[in-house]
Amino acid sequence: MAVGERDKISGQMTTGHEWNGIKELNTPVPKILYIVLTIAVCFAVIWTILNPSWPGINGYFRGLLGVDQKAEVAEVVQQAQMDRATWTDRIVSEDYAAIQADPALMTIVRETGNTLFGDNCAACHGTSATGNPGFPNLTQAPTMWGDDPEIIAETIRVGINGSSDDTRYAQMLAFGRDQMLESEDINTVVTYVQALSQPDLAAATDPELLATGATIFAENCAACHGETAKGLTDTGAPNLTDAFWIYGSDRAAIRHSVFAGRAGVMPSWEGRLTPADIKLLTLYVLDLRANAQ
Ligand code: HEC
Ligand code: HEC
Repeated sequence: MAVGERDKISGQMTTGHEWNGIKELNTPVPKILYIVLTIAVCFAVIWTILNPSWPGINGYFRGLLGVDQKAEVAEVVQQAQMDRATWTDRIVSEDYAAIQADPALMTIVRETGNTLFGDNCAACHGTSATGNPGFPNLTQAPTMWGDDPEIIAETIRVGINGSSDDTRYAQMLAFGRDQMLESEDINTVVTYVQALSQPDLAAATDPELLATGATIFAENCAACHGETAKGLTDTGAPNLTDAFWIYGSDRAAIRHSVFAGRAGVMPSWEGRLTPADIKLLTLYVLDLRANAQ
């Protein structure tokens, strides 16, 4: 073994190793490092004794402090459910007008409703409920089935052409495909329908053609859409005189509706959402409508 010697410049011992005349100083590890390491090791040992730590065959060492994060989470969840229960009970038991008049409850409706709507409804109706092609605008378009809260809640509960036994049925007949109207009559009534919401088009169209269209409409369409084409809540047929279209306002979309029919599906939510959630979503949709007008 090489023998160390004292280095003349630093006064330190060397290790005795030498490479090409370069000697290695035997500098000791700084004390502070020993101190920090000792503290860390002591802390770790004490910590493992205080807290749940070492795994065993039948469980694990639970620690002297008795900390149990599972129980803590369960407690928080239970507390949250209790907090929620106080307002879900009120949503279920109080009538619509009373809830709408309570700012604190309406804040909950807006927050929780936004999440519920995002999770369940936005895929079809859009995140802000303003609709997508094939899916109606819930915030502005006149309702097809009525805007009474009970009616909206019922629509959400049973759906439209949905899977519930009580579902609402809404069927736009296929006048062309099922040969109920000649192609020419379809074109005429489509022009008439387009003109209902487009004054410019109405002014530019031959009045005789519009009159023929009106007759075709009265004979074939008014039973569902109403004499004035403003929709009937009994049949769920939409208003055809406004700016809101489920399938599009262009001639091709309207002609397709009349030629091939339509039967949009709104799922039945009973069983998938609780009555409290359905009522909350009804309030949420009504609130969006009130603020959009
Ligand atoms: C799979 C797509 C889809 C989903 C998801 C969906 N809807 Fe609908 N919803 C529709 C369609 C399509 C209609 C229109 C049916 C028709 O044209 O007859 C509709 C109609 C409605 C109506 C009736 C509007 C009126 O004018 O009377 C309401 C209210 C409604 N939806 C609310 C909701 C709510 C609330 C949710 C979430 C719980 C939801 N919808 C989820 C497709 C959907
Ligand atoms: C049996 C009832 C019924 C009759 C008759 C009927 N409709 Fe409809 N119509 C509906 C329903 C219900 C809808 C909505 C269908 C849906 O959303 O899936 C609809 C939708 C439409 C649409 C699409 C509206 C949109 O917002 O995109 C047009 C256009 C239309 N009807 C025109 C007509 C015309 C024109 C006639 C007569 C030739 C007619 N309808 C006859 C029930 C009817």
